Amino acid sequence: MPILRNIGLLATCRAAGAQGEIHAIAKAALVWRAGVVLWAGRERDLPRGYHALSAMDAGKRLVIPGLVDCHTHLVFGGWRFPEFSQRLLGRSYLEIARAGGGLLSTAAATRGATASALVNRAHGFLRALALQGVTCVEIKSGYGLLPEAEMKILKVIRELAARQPLRLVPTFLAHAVPAEYRQRRGAYLRLLVEEMLPAVARGKLADFCDVFMEKGAFTRGEAGRILAAAGRLGLGLKLHADQLSSGGGAELAGALGAASADHLEYVSAQGIRALKRAGTVAALLPLPCLHLGLQPPPARRFIEAGVPVAVASDFNPGTNPACHLPYALALAVPLLRMTPAEVLKGATIHAARALRRDHVLGSLEPGKSADFSILEAESPEEWLLGFRENSCAATTIAGRRVTPGGT
Ligand code: NIG
Ligand code: FE
Repeated sequence: MPILRNIGLLATCRAAGAQGEIHAIAKAALVWRAGVVLWAGRERDLPRGYHALSAMDAGKRLVIPGLVDCHTHLVFGGWRFPEFSQRLLGRSYLEIARAGGGLLSTAAATRGATASALVNRAHGFLRALALQGVTCVEIKSGYGLLPEAEMKILKVIRELAARQPLRLVPTFLAHAVPAEYRQRRGAYLRLLVEEMLPAVARGKLADFCDVFMEKGAFTRGEAGRILAAAGRLGLGLKLHADQLSSGGGAELAGALGAASADHLEYVSAQGIRALKRAGTVAALLPLPCLHLGLQPPPARRFIEAGVPVAVASDFNPGTNPACHLPYALALAVPLLRMTPAEVLKGATIHAARALRRDHVLGSLEPGKSADFSILEAESPEEWLLGFRENSCAATTIAGRRVTPGGT
């Protein structure tokens, strides 16, 4: 039964209350057994029986629940750096995609890579996230497009889950119609619904199904059809919604009871209401928003409406090549007009909820997993406003320290 003592500030991040209510405890201690939190509170209130336990010292620093990155595309081949400059010089995301760049070019590079090369590369990315204080990462497929390549990516994620300590949540992503089916969209839709999704569900290769609903990807009708089929197979639902244009994505996510709707730059007022009614998390992604020069998603309107907001990295080669969650969180403050405390809740309990893991992850309270990170800061404000390359001193998963070493 170990204990973490001498915590300067323990941000428990319990779900209750407003987005900015992190339920922080000053001069705190945390006790766990078999990887599960037993007690969290003021050190001077520590129950007698816990005094003699083997202790770790937090050095008066800030302790937060392990960060949850609830939206990444972390398994891919190649990079697409030239596209970032092309966009700055005036070409749009869609133009680049139509000219043979874009996500179809990543799909070609990903298909060309061996599974073991993809595992090794992604392993390095996960190691970087662990060093930043991240303990749980959602990873989407979607750069395979054809059945065999999609299965390869999902198996890579499964292999990564066995090989390193971070908790991984696999998502099957219907990302675009592959070139092979450009003239036969209906056939690709049938392939997705009748073959690929059932195979994913049978093999238990994904917990969620996500669709990129956008011009150049899938229409609202197509996304609805794919997600309805996924729901029937028992998969949780997510949607890349209203990112580049307003297409009724949030309305669809809400109507289907999706766990999260992601991006949401061009969400409508009706869409915000639909998310609120369904309890769907709005997962906001500052880095692709900045790189694509989009208007920021209306975080304050979500918060005022009572929609839980998560913030994630969206690490991917086309719209955010930085594998760095705290960088995305630091930028969320000025870009989304969210307070550091609101952002912290967005990367812990609300991100866990976007992954339907909030019963075990995302906050430090009895019964939850002892996943926590010790930060070189006194407060969430110092951590995010005084952004440094890495403020994380130690990352712990189920009570076991995983950095430095161990991953
Ligand atoms: O989340 N929007 C769709 N998917 C990714 C980018 C895909 C790509 O361009 O490779 C995103 O931004
Ligand atoms: Fe994405």
